[in-house]
Amino acid sequence: MTRAPTIHRQDGVDALARAAAEAVAEAAAIAVAERGRFTIALAGGATPRPLYALLADAGAPFRARVPWDRVHVFFGDERCVPPDHAESNWRMAREALLDPVRPASAWRMPGEQPDPAAAAAAYEAVLARFFGVSAAGGSPPAFDVVLLGLGADGHTASLFPGSPALEETVRWVAAPWVPRLGAHRLTLTLPVLNAAREALFLVAGADKADALRRVLAGDAALPAARVRPAGGAIFYVDRAAAPP
Ligand code: 6PG
Repeated sequence: MTRAPTIHRQDGVDALARAAAEAVAEAAAIAVAERGRFTIALAGGATPRPLYALLADAGAPFRARVPWDRVHVFFGDERCVPPDHAESNWRMAREALLDPVRPASAWRMPGEQPDPAAAAAAYEAVLARFFGVSAAGGSPPAFDVVLLGLGADGHTASLFPGSPALEETVRWVAAPWVPRLGAHRLTLTLPVLNAAREALFLVAGADKADALRRVLAGDAALPAARVRPAGGAIFYVDRAAAPP
């Protein structure tokens, strides 16, 4: 049985970043206390950047609160570009968070690989080794936290509406062709997203309001609505995206 989504409304993007940083710091403390480590899959795009910057900010409380030497960082998706490309999620996260905090480990999706399917399989092997689970149809890795964004079309990670990757029940990482973008992407699949202890969505801006409303209403045509971990998805939203 999946719990209903939880929504936390914040006044603006700074308050949204602070609320999400508190949630990440709290989840990290619990995970390290219970399992000696904290595993998180980062979201790409623009919305999470203020969160990453706040977590890395030595003048804010979160950097000192999080035991970065026990934190292992992964990615929910990646563009098929080199790691230093302006569009790279790795580059955004490395600049905003990874370089300043130096986590115990950080695992990049190899977006630069010419064969996206091989890149997806390689990342799946990384997950299998790290989590000690079999990639051949075994139980998916259970991240402590998966951070996710929401596109105006209802996509999340790189799971876009109508994508065959949405029907993937065995593979943990897919390399879908995204017609709207005219490009491949690398993405965690729903089995992994739904195995997460916490799936935290960060949604800001009026352009996301319609998609957010539909996701919260359970419109399964929107990929984000299909992220339903046992504990229920948790939405950190600003008022522009979720008018009271
Ligand atoms: C990506 C993200 C993607 C993102 C949404 C929202 O690689 O772009 O993983 O799923 O979260 O597109 O993007 P914004 O936060 O930039 O609006």
